[in-house]
Amino acid sequence: MRLFKKSADLHHWLKQQKAKGKTIGFAPTMGALHNGHLSLIEASKKDNSITVSSIFVNPAQFNDPKDFEKYPITLEKDIELLELAGCNVLFLPSVSEIYPGGAPDNEHYNLGYLETILEGKYRSGHFQGVCKVVKRLLDIVQPGNLYLGQKDYQQCMVITKLIELMGWKDSIKVSVCPTLREADGLAMSSRNMRLTKAERENAPAIYRTLGFLKTNLEKGNLLPLKRKALEKLIAERFKPDYIEIADASTLQPIDEWNGKQKLVAVAAAFLNEVRLIDNLLLNE
Ligand code: PAJ
Repeated sequence: MRLFKKSADLHHWLKQQKAKGKTIGFAPTMGALHNGHLSLIEASKKDNSITVSSIFVNPAQFNDPKDFEKYPITLEKDIELLELAGCNVLFLPSVSEIYPGGAPDNEHYNLGYLETILEGKYRSGHFQGVCKVVKRLLDIVQPGNLYLGQKDYQQCMVITKLIELMGWKDSIKVSVCPTLREADGLAMSSRNMRLTKAERENAPAIYRTLGFLKTNLEKGNLLPLKRKALEKLIAERFKPDYIEIADASTLQPIDEWNGKQKLVAVAAAFLNEVRLIDNLLLNE
């Protein structure tokens, strides 16, 4: 695996590869890698001649400074895992490489309602931060294929919107890969490393509650079902930001279901200090 720390070096090398007819797949990450991340590498390897990954803990997307400070860093192990997965290129930039002069405050992406609902509502500024970094990474790598995880359902929609806003829709194809889970259903996440043993045992309740929504979904008024799910999470010692049933293609909350519309259940909840998110398609 080739390792690049400078944007210009990576950009130049990839340009040479493209000139030779190679196709580029890209899976950006913030490190502390697990099999969910590696599944994106695997998907990219199937479709492209060169797979690029990046590890960059993006300060601009953390609305909570404590979350940034405590974000797990396991770089040596990450490099080993990427090597084993057959990743071809790792981009490992410093903060000043991505944001010379600091992350700009005057850069704004018009994400519309996506920024004010669910994750957008509870993590103010988060998606603007995601767009800042992904815009820069895509500028540098200019991949033909971009691999994202369904685990971050709203982020997939935001990045798709960013690509549209930048006029890159025809040059970058987004592939959304399924959420990888632990045996007990807990969605794999770098933040799981921060859970205590007791919290870890509790954590799959978020997935079970999404499953409860799926099992009990009925045409008509969804409000009583949503309320029960919220109560379930609280009974399992979570402090929920939200648990919501939404239109799977727009993420707009649905209170009255016509029995046909495709739905996704989304949840975000704290187990003490650690905030977990998950989602489940209800009627695939
Ligand atoms: P990070 O949380 O490291 O996730 C990197 C990619 O891995 C994202 O596309 C995410 O959806 C995917 N992923 C995470 N957990 C997964 C799981 N259990 N199964 C499948 N895919 C999973 O998301 C980010 O980093 C950042 O916001 C980033 C896009 C890199 C911008 O900084």
